[in-house]
Amino acid sequence: MNLTIFGSGYVGLVTGACMSDAGNDVVCVDIDEQKIASLQEGEIPIHEPGLAELVRRNVEAGRLHFTTDIAEGVAHGLIQFIAVGTPPDEDGSADLKYVLAVARSIAEHMDGYRVIVDKSTVPVGTAEKVKAEIGGKLAERGAKHEFDVVSNPEFLKEGAAIGDFMKPDRIVVGTDSARATKLIKQMYEPFSRNHDKLILMDIPSAELTKYAANAMLATKISFMNELSNIADRYGADIEQVRIGIGSDPRIGYEFIYPGCGYGGSCFPKDVTALAHSAGLAGYEADLIRAVETVNQRQKRVLFDKIRKHFGDDLSGKTMSLWGLAFKPRTDDMREAPSRALMEAIWDAGGQIRAYDPEAMDETRRIYGDRPDLVLCYSAQEAARGADALVIVTEWQEFRSPDFVALAHALNEAVIFDGRNIYDPETMAEAGFSYHAIGRPQRAPEAST
Ligand SMILES: NC(=O)c1ccc[n+]([C@@H]2O[C@H](COP(=O)([O-])OP(=O)(O)OC[C@H]3O[C@@H](n4cnc5c(N)ncnc54)[C@H](O)[C@@H]3O)[C@@H](O)[C@H]2O)c1
Repeated sequence: MNLTIFGSGYVGLVTGACMSDAGNDVVCVDIDEQKIASLQEGEIPIHEPGLAELVRRNVEAGRLHFTTDIAEGVAHGLIQFIAVGTPPDEDGSADLKYVLAVARSIAEHMDGYRVIVDKSTVPVGTAEKVKAEIGGKLAERGAKHEFDVVSNPEFLKEGAAIGDFMKPDRIVVGTDSARATKLIKQMYEPFSRNHDKLILMDIPSAELTKYAANAMLATKISFMNELSNIADRYGADIEQVRIGIGSDPRIGYEFIYPGCGYGGSCFPKDVTALAHSAGLAGYEADLIRAVETVNQRQKRVLFDKIRKHFGDDLSGKTMSLWGLAFKPRTDDMREAPSRALMEAIWDAGGQIRAYDPEAMDETRRIYGDRPDLVLCYSAQEAARGADALVIVTEWQEFRSPDFVALAHALNEAVIFDGRNIYDPETMAEAGFSYHAIGRPQRAPEAST
């Protein structure tokens, strides 16, 4: 099939690469000229495992093309994906200006029937707005082409995006058109091989399903973080509590890890946008609002522990940060807890030495060169001469360091662990003062 994808970010690029790998002829359109130029040169602007190889293979096979030419994109695909950003507006609502701009572009150039597939995360009612935008533009042109708008929210996870797209748990499709349904079914057939993954529903339900999924996942995290703060105050161990509740199949072990808050481009904005949508309809979504409030507070927890240990004034102190990306296996720093922490440390006069396996360029892009930030080429190097180590992202390579070397590298054997990746007993035995999330502290047993 001929497919066009508007937006070549995390979702658009992965969709384009995977769809072309299934044999489709795909054109990816973006308004970011630099991004398209580097993609045409074979450079992938984001870190996503397996993506570079997939893009290269399909470009070489002649099935995947990149362009800034909107008319070319609209002419190409019978199916036109909208995969552009929906960032939060000032009031917390999802800003639909990019989505509606694509809708207008499609309507300006279309010369026959098109299926417009909304893959961006958008509030209920957006498909109607897209329809109205396209209908209005076509009327302006005096053109009478038929079109259908379908809601097909994306559930991929950064860091595992290719696997999620190729072998999805489910493909949610909201549609009111038999003609579009037939085409969408045909398009997704290669991704539904062992059983039908397609879940067909009405459009508003599909739009809400994406928000429901993200809000539920964010709720699980904030719930555990809330409990970790209670555990902290009563000397209980949240990790034992986690195992205790996860064993109940109604609760389960998945996604109930306490930590230093969730980040990323999705949970924070989607939770806020859902609460905002509810408000517009006259419903106060207290639970959903609390999820984000708890998360904002949780992003301060590591800093509060640091301040409790070192005092309010961190001048002359250096914190070593391991992990800057909002989660492992990505270089995405959007809403990352590391950012709130770094900014709080700087505000208190402290210095930072930091290391992340993938997000160093992104950190440099965001913060530029500054004397209170030293980006190091390895974890061990970042720890050298620092007054404490802070674990912010649970990259695999941080899980089993040489603790003896680490204790020697640090000025003081102190660790603040925002992801609970170490065993408190082992840490105490190794002579560390170890501060985790919702876990009782043990006095260090030996000094190394
Ligand atoms: N990132 C994720 O993990 C993820 C997962 C599921 C859903 N989503 C949702 O998918 C959507 C896209 O997210 P993303 O992370 O891929 O965003 P992104 O910011 O990485 O990419 C968006 C791209 O759209 C481009 N763009 C903007 N206006 C355009 C236009 N008029 N024509 C063509 N291109 C245009 C931008 O230049 C950018 O390259 C959002 O709604 C997001 O909530 C994201």
